[in-house]
Amino acid sequence: MILTHANKVFDLKDMFEAGTDSVFKAIEWAMAELIRHPHIMKEVQEEIREIIKFKPKVEENDLHKIQHSLQLVIKETLRLHPPTSLFTPRESLENTKIQGYDIHAKTRVIINAWAIGRDPVSWEDPEEFWPKRFLNSTIDYKGHDFELIPFGAGRRGCPGIMLAIATVELALANLLYQFDWSLPDGLSGQKLDMSEIFGVTTNKKDPLVVIATPHERIICKI
Ligand code: HEM
Repeated sequence: MILTHANKVFDLKDMFEAGTDSVFKAIEWAMAELIRHPHIMKEVQEEIREIIKFKPKVEENDLHKIQHSLQLVIKETLRLHPPTSLFTPRESLENTKIQGYDIHAKTRVIINAWAIGRDPVSWEDPEEFWPKRFLNSTIDYKGHDFELIPFGAGRRGCPGIMLAIATVELALANLLYQFDWSLPDGLSGQKLDMSEIFGVTTNKKDPLVVIATPHERIICKI
């Protein structure tokens, strides 16, 4: 099956390859950060549980109601842990100058979204997981604000962005709504190892292992 987007042609295999691992990584990093910051997790859970009440699960048409704090968490996760850290290489067409650097024609340029998201020139306390930094900010990840480009920007930008965000939101919303989360052996979230294996994609060195306890209000109703 062939799909087109912005005059580019993809087959269905491209979409699966590009779309599954990155979504999974975004969810894993978000959960890891929330386990490390239990007060933020609690805030998001309370907001979702208050809005969804006793429904057995969050459905797609609920998302617009609960987007607020969840959106902040997703933005902050994608800033600190963009699943695709190094983008598809580009080649400059002509000689140009960017921020004082001469870039010759036919230079291969690789964009590092991971470094951009942690640039202290753009971000206060860049290493901190602090979703509320986006509260009064118009910065978004859709490719117009170059401080935050986890999906790339321009014509090579991710064609799956809308599906990606909806999938990450729905999965995270349900994980947070239906379960309470802790680490094995009573380990404190602050001890969670956040080391990364850095490459074209950013993987957690140790996969996240967590204990899910069904939330009691929901068990009563099932
Ligand atoms: C959180 C999830 C995702 C992230 C962070 C992400 C990020 C990216 C990035 C950074 C690029 C390269 C952009 C560039 O080089 O400028 C890309 C390309 C691409 N993405 Fe995504 N993506 C995600 C999910 C998806 C999904 C769900 C699909 C499709 C179902 C998808 C399909 C693609 C395809 C086909 C390309 C290649 C575009 C091209 O070669 O021009 N992505 N993505």
